[in-house]
Amino acid sequence: MPAMTVIPEQILIELIDGIKVELYFGKAEDILDNFEKGFQLVYMDPPFCTGKDFYFDVGNRRILAYSDFRDKKKWLEWLKGIAARVREKLCSSGWFYLHVDQRVAHYAKIVLDEVFGEDNFVNEIIWCYETGGVPRVGFPRKHDNIFAYAKSLSCVFFKRQYVKKYLKHRMCRKGVEEYYDPKVKQWYRYKICPDWWDDIDVIRASSKERVGFFTQKPTALLKRIILSSSKKGDIIGDFTMGSGTTAVTSLELGRSFVGVDRSPVSIFVTLKRILKKVSKANIYKFLIFLENKWLVVVNFEINDNCVLLKLKNSEEIVLSI
Ligand SMILES: C[S@@+](CC[C@H](N)C(=O)[O-])C[C@H]1O[C@@H](n2cnc3c(N)ncnc32)[C@H](O)[C@@H]1O
Repeated sequence: MPAMTVIPEQILIELIDGIKVELYFGKAEDILDNFEKGFQLVYMDPPFCTGKDFYFDVGNRRILAYSDFRDKKKWLEWLKGIAARVREKLCSSGWFYLHVDQRVAHYAKIVLDEVFGEDNFVNEIIWCYETGGVPRVGFPRKHDNIFAYAKSLSCVFFKRQYVKKYLKHRMCRKGVEEYYDPKVKQWYRYKICPDWWDDIDVIRASSKERVGFFTQKPTALLKRIILSSSKKGDIIGDFTMGSGTTAVTSLELGRSFVGVDRSPVSIFVTLKRILKKVSKANIYKFLIFLENKWLVVVNFEINDNCVLLKLKNSEEIVLSI
């Protein structure tokens, strides 16, 4: 049979250590109700209602990845529906993190307070960065807002994180360890991570982890969220998955992952990133759901423009965009 170029509706990869990855191609609002309850953490970085189109650069091609909402009222209705469904699926110790920016943050906070209850609002994390332009009027906007809600504040799981604090000079205080960073020739100590994060850089053209997806977020950002709000073996969700940053970070940290995206580009890029991360020897089960049946993948090859899946029945499937 000749190779087919398709994007499967569903992809399931199970590793020999029991960690699972499930990817769903479709709209979050159509798929979420089918999930079982049991997510410890859901992080979502949806389109921010910019009215713009976002692309994926692959080789010398630029492909449309997704188009953003243009109407704030519709965006807020969408968010309310999604947030209510997410809340249903969280464990009692679970978290919802919503990543937005100043365009919608203040409106989103009101919607999330309604869905999760004001008492379960825990943080507005300010992620500071230094890219982008300078406006003619006003201070340059150099941060995103990440809202963190507990399903229930009384039983939520949280592990404190620590960050480096660089010192103008050594303090040599009793009981406080100080370390020297030869790269910047400065001493530092560790402090409890506050709710403003200025130590995580955006994805730049030169970033090693850059995959060409316009709104790709850094794995360091997800690492801090996942480490603080989940344990090894927990299930993490991202239902506007984009390039799969949450997926690869979850895997790296020994968590299972369930992802949804309506863009074929997202499914393709995420699968590629996952397959680059896991070694073939570590895969216990690899299935794709296509045209109403599950197919077993026994081997794969990754190229720049495509992923070749070799099936148990000797057929081959080419995933490309
Ligand atoms: C800002 S990007 C996510 C970027 C991601 N955090 C990363 O690091 O690459 C938003 C994603 O939401 C997806 N999306 C938009 N509407 C959606 C919907 N209704 N259901 C599922 N995915 C959706 C888009 O296709 C896009 O891939």
